[in-house]
Amino acid sequence: MSKVLVTGGCGYIGSHTIVDLIDNGFEVISVDNLSNSSADVLDGIEAITGKRVKNYNIDLCWEEAVQQVFEENPDIGGIIHFAALKAVGESVLQPISYFRNNLNSLLNILDCMDRYGAPHLIFSSSCSVYGNATELPVTEKTPLQEAESPYARTKQMGEQIIRDFSRIHPKHASILLRYFNPAGAHESAIIGEAPYNPASNLVPVITETAIGKRPEMTVFGDDYDTRDGSCVRDYIHVMDLANAHTKALQYLQAGKNTDNLEVFNLGIGEGVTVLEAIQSFMKVTGQPLQYRIGERRPGDVVAIYANKDKAAERLGWDPQRDINDIMRTAWAWEQKRSR
Ligand code: NAD
Ligand code: WQD
Repeated sequence: MSKVLVTGGCGYIGSHTIVDLIDNGFEVISVDNLSNSSADVLDGIEAITGKRVKNYNIDLCWEEAVQQVFEENPDIGGIIHFAALKAVGESVLQPISYFRNNLNSLLNILDCMDRYGAPHLIFSSSCSVYGNATELPVTEKTPLQEAESPYARTKQMGEQIIRDFSRIHPKHASILLRYFNPAGAHESAIIGEAPYNPASNLVPVITETAIGKRPEMTVFGDDYDTRDGSCVRDYIHVMDLANAHTKALQYLQAGKNTDNLEVFNLGIGEGVTVLEAIQSFMKVTGQPLQYRIGERRPGDVVAIYANKDKAAERLGWDPQRDINDIMRTAWAWEQKRSR
């Protein structure tokens, strides 16, 4: 079986995906410059899988260094490209850094795919490419709207770049995976989300508040037109998300793809409100949570959730976990890392 190059392998979704790939018999190498992660996660992956993954600590924007990785690993067959800057608010303040990092790294990866003949690419895209979606649930055919942030625009542009690449490289096959709201941690609580940047996503904000790192948290608005007034999202457990990458790679390797560029939504297909997520946390963990209702957050969409039928039918992807599993594993991870 050929080797898989995981970029951003020390990050949140990358590290969980490496575990799932190894569990499914893949050999993996990682490239991560540790700009938002720590090499300690490699110890965690080893503790879970018994396998030591080699990480190349290089910046993917450095063309020669990326080429060197491919020179040293001529058997790279699949590439899963997670590496990116991902903080929506930061991207508004530093758009150039986001375009430079997220697009140059992708261009170097595509260039090396071509140059070294690596056949398969899986790209981390995001539901943010749908902007204010025109229909719910969102299918892969739902038209993309104006991006709400420079971050989201890097994902739309990244998708477009891969589309143009695919047109002139029929022998290379790529998959764009549009994640909805990834959350939760590995069951072992050995790995989880551990960013250097302060958390702004709902689930880590909840666990950090409950453990006392924050005095309270704010629910951004309870006057939306939803069942309880708070925003609706599709929270997908990171291990189910990880498994979709393994399935996508196996799908390409088996030649089951009908086109050399395919797109899949990755969500569980159920909308959960912010207040329901908070209730789930308190029920599953038995912990109280200090929260107050605040103003709406600028840029928030009211509701978005996925239609996951395409990933289920074509990839055979069957996410098993719900919001309660997300809260349980996220809380176990928070307790472990805060010790
Ligand atoms: P993360 O920040 O935990 O992981 C990304 C990793 O990439 C980090 O370890 C970082 O050090 C590395 N990296 C960034 N730029 C690099 C560069 N130029 N060279 C080498 N390494 C670099 O993020 P994540 O949550 O694991 O997200 C993974 C991917 O999924 C990203 O592309 C992100 O945009 C996308 N995504 C994430 C979410 C989410 O909510 N977490 C949702 C949708 C899409
Ligand atoms: C979820 C809900 C908030 C924090 C972002 C990116 C998206 C994708 C996933 C990368 C919203 C509410 C949150 C808090 C709250 N990432 N909330 N209080 O905004 O849906 O999506 O992450 O691609 O591109 O935009 O995720 O976790 O920030 O928010 O009430 O302290 O929780 O208003 O309704 P979001 P989130």
